[in-house]
Amino acid sequence: DGELCLSRSLVNSSDKVIRKAGSSVFQHSVEGWKINSSLVLEIRKNILRFLDAERDVSVVKSSFKPGDVIHYVLDRRRTLNISHDLHSLLPEVSPMKNRRFKTCAVVGNSGILLESGCGKEIDSHNFVIRCNLAPVVEFAADVGTKSDFITMNPSVVQRAFGGFRNESDREKFVHRLSMLNDSVLWIPAFMVKGGEKHVEWVNALIIKNKLKVRTAYPSLRLIHAVRGYWLTNKVPIKRPSTGLLMYTLATRFCDEIHLYGFWPFPKDLNGKAVKYHYYDDLKYRYFSNASPHRMPLEFKTLNVLHNRGALKLTTGKCI
Ligand code: CTP
Repeated sequence: DGELCLSRSLVNSSDKVIRKAGSSVFQHSVEGWKINSSLVLEIRKNILRFLDAERDVSVVKSSFKPGDVIHYVLDRRRTLNISHDLHSLLPEVSPMKNRRFKTCAVVGNSGILLESGCGKEIDSHNFVIRCNLAPVVEFAADVGTKSDFITMNPSVVQRAFGGFRNESDREKFVHRLSMLNDSVLWIPAFMVKGGEKHVEWVNALIIKNKLKVRTAYPSLRLIHAVRGYWLTNKVPIKRPSTGLLMYTLATRFCDEIHLYGFWPFPKDLNGKAVKYHYYDDLKYRYFSNASPHRMPLEFKTLNVLHNRGALKLTTGKCI
């Protein structure tokens, strides 16, 4: 409960908190940071009690047959039909089976990345995870381009690709996916009702254009399991953000996890404005109740983990 109060006060007055930050929750020095391998192993083991990312990262073909009806994970009263297209794109086996990496980058979408010069460093990691099909080419110097695993909330179709209303929106989307080659495209299709037609359009475009991208659709238990892990560790998150989900999954595959683009605050430590996204004009939603996330609380948690050597958080410039 102490944590809950803290998160509320952060949400209400993050400006003030940042100004006062000094030695507080936001400070993390990159110099002298060292990985704490035994802590990394302990975290991996503890998370495995709640979920196995190798399995829960995606349902597989044998989980369903076309025509099956499933309940949405966060909206149990509503249902979804497993279509032929969707079924045909389910992987035969987990796309992360037996994949292990020495270092991974999880790239969040905060404007803190702008002018960071972190592109080269991000691309130097063995495995790079990105969120919500964020554009990279125009921002390569700051964010890099390597994308081995990329998430896509169904709402992205509306937000970034004009709801596929005209041919050029669809072309832009197909072009973006073709750049991914055979990377994993992770689509949370079973979370809440509302995006089913978008998911179907995406599936149809992938099939029609014979795109090589490896589609993955998170298991029905993933989000509850991730929430359970963090709750047990006294981090009361209503609904983990994509970025936190990706860190949680990555603990299974990566010995060293480096986070970039995590900064859910409208100003940096020097009081300079920071965009919510590095690539568009979306505003900070979590100051209202409109957002299901508790990103400031998540950030504080990641910061603690940075200071203990469990992960490395970069919010400054890369040299
Ligand atoms: N993020 C952050 N600070 C920001 C913006 C994003 O720390 N200012 C992190 C969050 O962990 C977020 C991830 O980067 O989940 C990806 O950003 P975004 O695509 O904006 O995710 P949202 O759509 O806001 O959240 P979600 O997809 O989780 O609903």
